[in-house]
Amino acid sequence: MSATIPAGLVGVTGYTGMELARILAGHPSLELVCATSRAEAGKRLDDIYPFLQGTNMGDIKITAPDVAELARQCKVVFLAVPHKTAMEIADALLAAGVKVVDLSADFRLRSKAVYEEWYDVEHTRADLLQEAVYGLPEFYRDQIKTARLIANPGCYPTSAILGLTPALADGLVEPENIVIDAKSGTSGAGRKANVGTAFCEVADSFRAYSLPRHRHAPEIEQELSMAAGQPMTVSFSTHLLPIDRGILSTMYTMLKPGVDEAAIRASYDKFYGHEPWVRVLPAGRLPETRWVRGTMFCDIGLVPDPRTGRLIILSAIDNLCRGASGQAVANANLMLGLEPDAGLKLAPMMP
Ligand SMILES: NC(=O)c1ccc[n+]([C@@H]2O[C@H](COP(=O)([O-])OP(=O)(O)OC[C@H]3O[C@@H](n4cnc5c(N)ncnc54)[C@H](OP(=O)(O)O)[C@@H]3O)[C@@H](O)[C@H]2O)c1
Repeated sequence: MSATIPAGLVGVTGYTGMELARILAGHPSLELVCATSRAEAGKRLDDIYPFLQGTNMGDIKITAPDVAELARQCKVVFLAVPHKTAMEIADALLAAGVKVVDLSADFRLRSKAVYEEWYDVEHTRADLLQEAVYGLPEFYRDQIKTARLIANPGCYPTSAILGLTPALADGLVEPENIVIDAKSGTSGAGRKANVGTAFCEVADSFRAYSLPRHRHAPEIEQELSMAAGQPMTVSFSTHLLPIDRGILSTMYTMLKPGVDEAAIRASYDKFYGHEPWVRVLPAGRLPETRWVRGTMFCDIGLVPDPRTGRLIILSAIDNLCRGASGQAVANANLMLGLEPDAGLKLAPMMP
């Protein structure tokens, strides 16, 4: 049997922490040795997650976060905590030689000023912003392999950036006036108690929120600007779906003159034909959240509309897996020289 690599998880009781526990339970090489929560410290992991009963993770004792202890025990640590908290923990772990995958927004934006404008807090570790690698494997695979610190992408940005990048990078669509109309399941808001995401507030209803300034906008614009080779501004609108997990983004672009469906499909095939987790659907099929539920897949639909001159791009992911914890494990696999899909051969959760 090959040796296992000890892993830590700060924030095991959150939704992304729960999803990391699910994935790590089936990982052949990463062994969870340290799982933290302030509220649940002292309990066994299978006390809070009965699905772990009988597995080698069930008897892990949850501890309060202790950076020195994490550094002593772990080679890699996942920070599944709110923004601002991650920047306070990452540095000490890095100094101890631990690799860090941060699921929060703390290291995603390259500019301290932009971070502070959108997150309303001071960035106290701006020195790490240039070092952190944006953990989207399709576009940053080589940098991820040698990184110490991964800024795991946001859930909405993962769906929008994967959907729009080929069209922008290959100059198929105008970079102006792009509308990203995105919808997310309620787990996207995290597990902490909040009236706005309580069952009766969400079930049987559908509403927009955070218009016109959702915090993921600058992250999307940062990455799309690099794809387009020019500064980009997008209209980004977010909606809360009465489902627990899944994101569907419908993106409206204007085709450049003369671009036909063959050129569009050739571009997406060039970008994603060899990528295991991006499935460009054939003409006539549209992505759906349930077919990516609990998986690493991003399903993309391409709909040219000659009547309006638009290319409508649809992208479906699971916010907790591809949009957070699965992607975090994919990044850890690359950083640690493991098989890229170790622990990630996940079939969709049915129904
Ligand atoms: N939910 C999603 O779909 C999603 C997708 C992509 C990225 N993200 C990002 O991933 C991070 C975690 O999200 P989530 O949805 O899992 O959040 P969550 O459900 O609210 O869970 C947060 C976790 O962090 C712990 N925590 C909170 N404050 C802490 C502190 N000061 N020190 C140490 N631990 C602390 C909590 O446990 P205790 O309070 O008991 O310590 C809990 O386990 C966030 O930054 C979020 O923006 C979330």
